Amino acid sequence: MDWLNEFDSRIDRNVPLAAHTWFGLGGSAECVVYPRDESQLAAIVRRAEAEALPWRVLGGGANVLISDAGVDGIVIRLNEPAFTKVDFDGTTVTAAAGADLMKLANTCVTRALSGLECLAGIPGTVGGAIRMNAGGRFGEIADSVGQVRILHTDGTVRTLTRDEVGFRYRHTGLGRAIVLSARFTLESGDPEEIKARFKAYWAVKKASQPLADFSAGCIFKNPPGDSAGRLIDQAGLKGRTHGSARVSDRHANFIVADPGATATDVLALVDEVRDTVMRKFGVQLETEIEVWRPSVEAGCTV
Ligand code: EPU
Repeated sequence: MDWLNEFDSRIDRNVPLAAHTWFGLGGSAECVVYPRDESQLAAIVRRAEAEALPWRVLGGGANVLISDAGVDGIVIRLNEPAFTKVDFDGTTVTAAAGADLMKLANTCVTRALSGLECLAGIPGTVGGAIRMNAGGRFGEIADSVGQVRILHTDGTVRTLTRDEVGFRYRHTGLGRAIVLSARFTLESGDPEEIKARFKAYWAVKKASQPLADFSAGCIFKNPPGDSAGRLIDQAGLKGRTHGSARVSDRHANFIVADPGATATDVLALVDEVRDTVMRKFGVQLETEIEVWRPSVEAGCTV
């Protein structure tokens, strides 16, 4: 990977990733690179593709579990100023992929712009939130998106309309393309009403979720017409542990990492929960979190 030095971007080697994720677990990245701008990002991705080197983009680390073996290849972080810009123009807001989602939602509320308050308390970056269509009971990010700019792995940039992004429940059709920025179409409204809604959404989240613990939010997607949390709860799994990973007593769709937990503990508990729910209710739960493993172990061909 010496070719990376040709780029004038910050590169860190053998980086423990635990501190970069909300779970606080897992091994190291072989290499973390911080491109300075979009053209540098495009060049790095193109070169990595040509060298058949695995690469991944790490956003806020809010929905990712890093395996204890860490990850090989390149982890890209979009933290440089070109990737954290937010521009307001009337009721239109354009945010770069690395911008902080909670800060963005908060700023919009302060400016009496309505649309993103449904994301109250959801951590992450704009890029990560777009990629997985982050949201909750009160709405999802797709509801406010006008356009998304993406970078294809061949280095070409495209602007997609909301329909072209292929938003579905916690899913987009973006494949391996990288989100560069998103343009949100918001509505101006009564500042007090927007603020009150934002606070109310936050309060619901705080009351029902273990926000003080180390976790990656909901572990499983809700199956159609049902709730993963309800099913796991009904299966009697609240409080179940594997090593120091534990199914939260507050919300059964959260696995929390107690001191000493490993990613392997979490993965074993994920399997146990999935198997138990399948056995008891015949429902196959699908994980919402992304698990990052070394490419060889994961059978990845890139
Ligand atoms: N429930 C239980 N036991 C539990 C948890 C929930 O019986 O331990 C029941 C609740 O009583 C309710 C139903 O399950 O009847 C749904 O629960 P809740 O309202 O808490 O919402 P959820 O569907 O579990 C979704 C999102 C959350 C988001 C919340 C609130 C998913 C998988 N989860 O949770 O998103 O914060 O709504 O808006 O879509 C995340 O994506 O990481 C996440 C946490």
